[in-house]
Amino acid sequence: MEKDLNALFLDTLKDIYYAEKQIYKSLPKMAEAANSDKLKAAFEKHHEETEGQIERLEQVFELLGKAARGKKCDAIEGILEEGKEIMEEYEDEPALDAGLLAAAQAVEHYEISRYGTLRSWAAKLGMKDAVRLLDQTLAEEKKTDDTLTQLADSEVNAVAQAA
Ligand SMILES: [Fe+2]
Ligand SMILES: [Fe+2]
Repeated sequence: MEKDLNALFLDTLKDIYYAEKQIYKSLPKMAEAANSDKLKAAFEKHHEETEGQIERLEQVFELLGKAARGKKCDAIEGILEEGKEIMEEYEDEPALDAGLLAAAQAVEHYEISRYGTLRSWAAKLGMKDAVRLLDQTLAEEKKTDDTLTQLADSEVNAVAQAA
């Protein structure tokens, strides 16, 4: 079978499905590690949102008539591994939250990239319902990224620098 845009869309859907599941597992660990109550709360809120995002992806698989299945995503593995390193190397250090926040933003930027691409491809493929679902998640990822930027600027970076 020819690998056309349909094939690429499905492959990329599997990639982000795998990534979201890994992110879902990581966010509680990041929330637990964070010192700032606001950063903890942001991670916990996004953990809940991520559950909904996984469900939306399952709806997109359903629209395609395909089983929801992930495909190992090396990019997210690497990004999350770096987050884990920060947790270990900066444990009990003033810059821990700044590092965790930066790791989380790298995750969000990866997701924004993926969902932006997927919604464009879905539009090109005439999949209106998929576009709507992907746009909802894209908006949540962007909002999370904005919240993290505000938290970095208002609190987290200053704490990291002060000690
Ligand atoms: Fe997500
Ligand atoms: Fe996210």
